[in-house]
Amino acid sequence: MMIDFHSHIMPAFDDGASDADTSLKMIKLSRDMGVNTIVSTSHCYPCSSADIDKFLSERERAYDELMAAAQNSGVDMPEIRLGCEVHLTCDLTRLRGIEKLCIDKTGYMLVEMPSSNWNDNTIDYIYKLSISGIKPIIAHAERNIAQKSELLSALYTLDILIQINAESFGAAPLKKFIDNMMKNKMIHIIGTDMHNLNTRHPNMDKAKKYIIKRYGAECWSYLMRNADIILEGEELYYRDLMSFKKKSFLSK
Ligand SMILES: [Fe+2]
Repeated sequence: MMIDFHSHIMPAFDDGASDADTSLKMIKLSRDMGVNTIVSTSHCYPCSSADIDKFLSERERAYDELMAAAQNSGVDMPEIRLGCEVHLTCDLTRLRGIEKLCIDKTGYMLVEMPSSNWNDNTIDYIYKLSISGIKPIIAHAERNIAQKSELLSALYTLDILIQINAESFGAAPLKKFIDNMMKNKMIHIIGTDMHNLNTRHPNMDKAKKYIIKRYGAECWSYLMRNADIILEGEELYYRDLMSFKKKSFLSK
């Protein structure tokens, strides 16, 4: 079982795959690496309920286009689960229908934190979301490390689920950060965040290799198991989260 939890594979929909042909090539590459489920998480910037409805209808059109192209392509299609990467720019709980942006009716939502300076409102928005019945998963949390430490601490005290991008595993500037997060049970999900075939391409195989070598095969199984639990719509209990240490025989 290999689940890619973060991707931009919908044709000509966001800044991901430019057309259906590119989508299928990204999917085929993923399939060749052993990926059997891809969570499609196109960017969504909801500021109103109308934005949510517009996003969902356009995503449906993009999905239908992809499936039509797949039919004649000969590509062995993985399971595709529809979600989105929701940008947190306001109190999302005030928007009617926000739950429709959860990943395939699971109750879990992939949330992208603001890239600019966070403030108390940022934490308040994610807190409100987490007590509204929606289970947020912070997308590529490694991008947030420059934020103020007190705000990051406040975020982590909320017991929020964390996703890290595949390419960040093994990236030299992030090794220490990821080691610490792994040790403290703070990494729960992995995804490629693939957008295209060159700069941000499918790379689950490389991450798998690195994770198994650095933290052990059990760590990889754990990350896949977590993704599976979420996609089944089941509760990922905090008491079941696991800690993994860098294997001592490896150099930094
Ligand atoms: Fe993304």
